[in-house]
Amino acid sequence: MELMDNKQKKLNHIVNLVNDSEISSIKSVVTGIVKIINDPRSSAKDLKDLIEVDPPLSAKLLKAANSAYYSRSTKITEIMQAVIWIGYDALKELALSQKVCEIFNNDDVVEGYSRTSLWKHSIAVAILTKMIYRREFGKRGEDIYVAGLLHDIGIIAEDQFLQSQFLSVLRKINTEKTNLTDAESEILGYDHTDVGRAIAENWNLPQKLSMSLGSHHTPLNTDQEIVTMALTLHVADFLCQDNEIGFCGTHNRDKDLFQKCIDRMDVTPYALELIMDDTKKEISRLEDQGIL
Ligand SMILES: [Fe+2]
Ligand SMILES: [Fe+2]
Repeated sequence: MELMDNKQKKLNHIVNLVNDSEISSIKSVVTGIVKIINDPRSSAKDLKDLIEVDPPLSAKLLKAANSAYYSRSTKITEIMQAVIWIGYDALKELALSQKVCEIFNNDDVVEGYSRTSLWKHSIAVAILTKMIYRREFGKRGEDIYVAGLLHDIGIIAEDQFLQSQFLSVLRKINTEKTNLTDAESEILGYDHTDVGRAIAENWNLPQKLSMSLGSHHTPLNTDQEIVTMALTLHVADFLCQDNEIGFCGTHNRDKDLFQKCIDRMDVTPYALELIMDDTKKEISRLEDQGIL
């Protein structure tokens, strides 16, 4: 019990630091879009109103909407036009990714880690999870896209506020070839899934989001309600690391656990391979457009 209290105290401390920092600058846009996603009565106007109070975000979205991928003869100058031309769902995703990307803006590379490489990993997991949801489960998967983008937000918090301990974690995973979560638990007393869950809870994101962030490395021991989300996140995380897309914090990936997850999801390795290929194409497209 005392041990739990101590862990909770440490987590509260890091969440307070997050809330006083630039990381919290994404909070209102992210929670706003998640609300829109989960409210069937919401409309494109709600999205427009939310985006327009953030001029730098509006500018980025208009730039992306005017990029070659969405090529058209007249220029898009307003968010409402962007909704019409690129679509409501695509604009929600674009707004989320452009906003969340702001907290990964630092290029120092230490021990194979950089925020840029973690960002690339996060967007790849977001795209891959969404595609798995659509193709394998026939779900639209908007919440899973947000979960993919934010699943490793705990790592950003550790990187920013616990620099020397985080460096020890990175050294440990590189020299001893241990798992990221094991090294974190040993050095910090908790891991980035605990931090991600604590941030999501504190920001009042839906419970299924906070729970899936908290269980993306232990997806088999989770609530029935979010098990598909947790399994999909874990599988996407594993595949992105296996394909070396972005930050790869884990040297000894648990192949048994991966196999158990895909058995439970009832998907074939071949289907996942095809989805992975399409994810890679989507990432190159975003890179070509300068969106990534
Ligand atoms: Fe993770
Ligand atoms: Fe990850």
